[in-house]
Amino acid sequence: MDHFMLAPGLSGQDMLDVFTHGQNVAETALMVAGSIGLGERVKKAAYVSGIYHDVGKCFIEREFVFKKGELTDEEKGIVKTHALYGCAFVGKIFAAKDYGEFVLYHHEDFDGGGYYGLKGKNIPLVSRVIRIADCFDALRSDRPYRKALPLKEALDIMDEEASRKFDIEIYKVFRRFFGNISLNAVARNF
Ligand SMILES: [Fe+2]
Ligand SMILES: [Fe+2]
Repeated sequence: MDHFMLAPGLSGQDMLDVFTHGQNVAETALMVAGSIGLGERVKKAAYVSGIYHDVGKCFIEREFVFKKGELTDEEKGIVKTHALYGCAFVGKIFAAKDYGEFVLYHHEDFDGGGYYGLKGKNIPLVSRVIRIADCFDALRSDRPYRKALPLKEALDIMDEEASRKFDIEIYKVFRRFFGNISLNAVARNF
């Protein structure tokens, strides 16, 4: 798969945006990992995997990664390859080479509805942590098709999707960071 290393699809500010998002995800993932009592080794894995989780997007055409409208099924298939490219890429970085699997599975939904259909605890723990941190930063950031959502709105959306997308035990820990904001939706699902 070395050929893609020579053909970046993103450059300049777009690439920086991918890494800024990665940094945000890494920091949230680290906080969550620490709060669920994971050891230093796993916390490091969550942080480094967070940084690189979307690096594969850098090898996909900009028109798909940052498309303003709805992606077609074919375009979705193209964008999905960022998980695989990211996995291959981190395998070549000394400090991250053991974390390819966590990057590969960062779009798995807990109910099996994600990219590769992994389900529940079959999804690597670090990927389950990143899934939550990733959704949060995506909702809280400007996207080509919408502005960043206010905190309450972002959390409402995540609460609604929690039972389907996330490991709920980890999600509850993440949710505690936000104190009094209503947990009704989560409670309703469980
Ligand atoms: Fe991603
Ligand atoms: Fe992401």
